[in-house]
Amino acid sequence: MAKAYKIAVLPGDGIGPEVMAEALKVMAKISSTGGVIFEYSEQLVGGAAIDAKGKALPAETVAACEASDAILFGSVGGPKWEKLPPDEQPERAALLPIRKHFGLFANLRPAICYPELTSSSPVRPDIVAGGFDVLCVRELTGGLYFGPKRTENLPDGDVLAVDEMVYKKSEIVRIAHVAFKAARARKKKLLSVDKANVVRNSVLWRETMKEIATQYPDVELAHMYVDNAAMQLIKMPREIDVFVTENLFGDILSDEMGAITGSLGMLASASLGKPRADGTYFGLFEPSGGTAPDIAGKGIANPIAQILSAALLLRFALGMEKEAAAIEAAVRTVIESGLRTGDIFTGAAGTRKVGTREMGDAVVGAL
Ligand code: IPM
Ligand code: MG
Repeated sequence: MAKAYKIAVLPGDGIGPEVMAEALKVMAKISSTGGVIFEYSEQLVGGAAIDAKGKALPAETVAACEASDAILFGSVGGPKWEKLPPDEQPERAALLPIRKHFGLFANLRPAICYPELTSSSPVRPDIVAGGFDVLCVRELTGGLYFGPKRTENLPDGDVLAVDEMVYKKSEIVRIAHVAFKAARARKKKLLSVDKANVVRNSVLWRETMKEIATQYPDVELAHMYVDNAAMQLIKMPREIDVFVTENLFGDILSDEMGAITGSLGMLASASLGKPRADGTYFGLFEPSGGTAPDIAGKGIANPIAQILSAALLLRFALGMEKEAAAIEAAVRTVIESGLRTGDIFTGAAGTRKVGTREMGDAVVGAL
């Protein structure tokens, strides 16, 4: 009998729904050949949920996620909701609570620059020649994002705003294990990024990384300050394989990686909680890019980040490594064949510009 999995599908705003449709086509192809059944529960999130229900993360959406094996997420936000108070804006009011609620502390952001797409990178050709593949492991439920906050009017008329950067050692230990395991499965090199010359959190971070390293003697651990790391990622992206860092640093560096690869529309991400007994994870899988409101609804967005997010879902949440790798290989085949959505089209010989649907169909075809 075919195994059935429940997946919460949260397309969100902007290009979310149109790229999600392509990812679901790819999932349908997997289920048609792989003897699995995917049962979807499609739910509102972000601006779409604010418009329909007055809340970016309605209780029904959370309940549907709780009843699922994984969450496939599109993207949230857009100009329509930018005037709302910061705490009610779709990005903050949907994503942060969902990460916290499900304990999704480990954020994997693979930044892959395909050899065929190096000309989309703003970095000098000799630096990115042949492409590169860096994995950012970002701690996702601690640090400045979730520490105590307050804003105060001071007696002298000045205003004070405080965000506390808080980490417990146990939170660093668990992300360290995720990062060391990821490094072990790749080139056995891990770079820990911190600001231990200034920040106390980072002193604890570095000590803890060193301590956990003794359990992974086959992985070579190095440390770098975040300001230097921001520079080295641009100067030598091919030298860095896996890096691990705290929440805010990871937010910033992962966007930098998106820029260096030259194609945010290609980058997927996985946000994972504690592993289940069988080694799979409950998780949320989403493109690293945003809602791209300027091109939403035009049928020209790149669906690959969403399709690759579905591949990560199969790998991490459902333990379907073979199928995940097949999707990744299909994406490579399509890129090699020369198909390009507008974001990665440079007019190079042998390439052809296509829309969202045609790109999705091509990946299904290559599977
Ligand atoms: C990200 C985003 C979010 C973050 C925002 C939308 C809250 O930038 O996932 O990187 O800062 O984590
Ligand atoms: Mg970000």
